[in-house]
Amino acid sequence: MGTTGDMTNGPARAPRVLVVSGSRHLESNLHELVRIATEAARAAGAELQTLALHELDLPVMHYNDRSQRELPSVRRVHESARWADGFILATPEYHGNMSGCLKNWFDFLYGELAGKFAGVIACTGGGGGDMSITSVKNSFNWCHGFTLPFHAAARSSDFKDGALVNHKVLDRVQRVAHDVVRYAPLIRSAFDQARQDGEGVRSGVAGMHS
Ligand SMILES: Cc1cc2nc3c(=O)[nH]c(=O)nc-3n(C[C@H](O)[C@H](O)[C@H](O)COP(=O)(O)O)c2cc1C
Repeated sequence: MGTTGDMTNGPARAPRVLVVSGSRHLESNLHELVRIATEAARAAGAELQTLALHELDLPVMHYNDRSQRELPSVRRVHESARWADGFILATPEYHGNMSGCLKNWFDFLYGELAGKFAGVIACTGGGGGDMSITSVKNSFNWCHGFTLPFHAAARSSDFKDGALVNHKVLDRVQRVAHDVVRYAPLIRSAFDQARQDGEGVRSGVAGMHS
C-alpha cells in the first residue's frame, strides 16, 4: 500500500497508526482489545505507536496554561498525534460516555486530528457500546477528523480470564484495525492535497487548516 504518493494511493511509506488506549484501569479488558487491534494493524502493514493513558502522566487540560505545553506527557500527546495518519481509539464505556482520560487527551488536540482517520473500539459492562463509541466519533469529527462507519464493542461477558472469547467481536476489532490502515493514508493525502488549494471554498474544510 502507498507506493506512489498520489491521492489515490496515499504517501509512499507505511501508514502510520497511533493506538490510544483510554483506560487507566490496570486490569482493564480494554488492554486485550488494544493488543488485538495493534496486532491486526501491524499485520495490515502499519507503522505503529501506542499511547497508553494509564502509563502517561497527563494532567487535566488547563486552557490557556501555556506551561503545560512543555510537559513531556503533553509533548508526547502532540507529537504522536501529529505523526499519525490514522488512529485506533479505544475506550471503556463510563456512564454512557468515553472515559474521562480519553476526553482529556482530546482536549489537548485539535488541528493535529484534522484530515486524519479513526476507528473506534470500546469495552462495556453490559451495554452495546454505542454511546461511548458515538462520543469518541463526535469528538474526532469536531476536530475535523473522519471516522470509520463501523466499530467494535466487547461486553465483560465476552472475556474469560482476560482473553476475548467472543469470536464475532474479535472479527470486528480486527476489521476496524485493517480499515484504519487502509483508509487513513487516503484521507490524509486527499486532505493535504486540498490544503494546497489555499483558503478559498475550493479547498473545503482543509482550507481552514492551511
Ligand atoms: C465509572 C464507571 C461507569 C461505567 N458506566 C458504564 C456504562 O454506562 N455502561 C456500561 O455498559 N458499563 C459501564 N461501566 C462498566 C465498564 O464499562 C466495564 O467495567 C468495562 O469493562 C470497562 O473496562 P474495564 O472495567 O475492563 O476497565 C462503568 C464502569 C465505571 C467504573
